[in-house]
Amino acid sequence: MSTGAELPKGLHRIIQLPSPELGELWDSIVLDQAIKDQLIGQAIINFTVRQSVSRSVLPLHGTVLLVGEPGTGKTSLARGLAHKTAECFSGASFRLLEVDPHALGSAMMGKTQKAVSDLFGQTIAESALTGPTIVLLDEVETLAADRSKLSLSANPVDVHRATDAVLVQLDLLAETHKNLLFIATSNFPQAVDEAFTSRCDLVLEVPPPNLKACEQILTLCLKGMGKQFAAMAKLPQTAGFDAVANEVHGLDGRAIRKVVASALTLRKQVAMNPNELSMADLTKAAKAAKAVRAKGTKR
Ligand SMILES: Nc1ncnc2c1ncn2[C@@H]1O[C@H](COP(=O)(O)OP(=O)(O)OP(=O)(O)O)[C@@H](O)[C@H]1O
Ligand SMILES: [Mg+2]
Repeated sequence: MSTGAELPKGLHRIIQLPSPELGELWDSIVLDQAIKDQLIGQAIINFTVRQSVSRSVLPLHGTVLLVGEPGTGKTSLARGLAHKTAECFSGASFRLLEVDPHALGSAMMGKTQKAVSDLFGQTIAESALTGPTIVLLDEVETLAADRSKLSLSANPVDVHRATDAVLVQLDLLAETHKNLLFIATSNFPQAVDEAFTSRCDLVLEVPPPNLKACEQILTLCLKGMGKQFAAMAKLPQTAGFDAVANEVHGLDGRAIRKVVASALTLRKQVAMNPNELSMADLTKAAKAAKAVRAKGTKR
């Protein structure tokens, strides 16, 4: 993994794939297997079918967009997908480039268009020349903002130009560098430029967890904690667990995991020794999280 000052502008990480850490991330997201399979399928055809079939027959751009509410696992899935894809092509040297759109947009205000062009036209294109490359465009609405919704008076012309530059570069790369796959995420799909969305080969909505998924997320979290605090791993088999799962239904995956964290803070002896965590603590934390969420949605 490469991080730090030696990275080209606009990237905040380069990861050699496969990466078992990212594999764990993929496994940690509870989601309908059909959705996970479709994501992997789309990534596979990008590096197989797309390489040999003309774009006039199958207009693949090499871009996938994951949309969904905050905390539903989009970034984790995107990073995990990079690993799963590389795993399917053992022998090939894949790498993941993680773009930092905020660095492009803010730190280089006034130079965004050039920064975008350099990043896509040089850094990303050069990486693709040396081997199959997957690019994470997290929170892509920052980079490909919907130009129709930006008012020129309130938003710098620079933002418009950045979106234009992204689209131009995506078109160029789609034509010339086929061993590239962009995985973008957004929790504001309405803020993403339509021209970007229409270039995506797959736009997939990551849904909030249903009741069964809530139960599984809680179980995974408690079992994970159980590696350090053995008693916590037994909670999913304890009376009252179903009621807690019911209680967290309606929260997103991130909030459900945070319920476990906040349950540990309610009593000093539990904070000191998480093995003391009770179902009552979990219920109380879940109810509190739901109450906060309810207030938030009324605002
Ligand atoms: N479906 C899920 N199953 C298990 N864990 C989940 C799920 N969804 C989210 N999480 C957990 O929530 C946390 C946040 O996930 P992640 O950052 O991938 O979400 P996101 O959709 O990208 O959020 P945001 O829109 O705020 O960027 C992670 O710890 C992840 O494991
Ligand atoms: Mg995210």
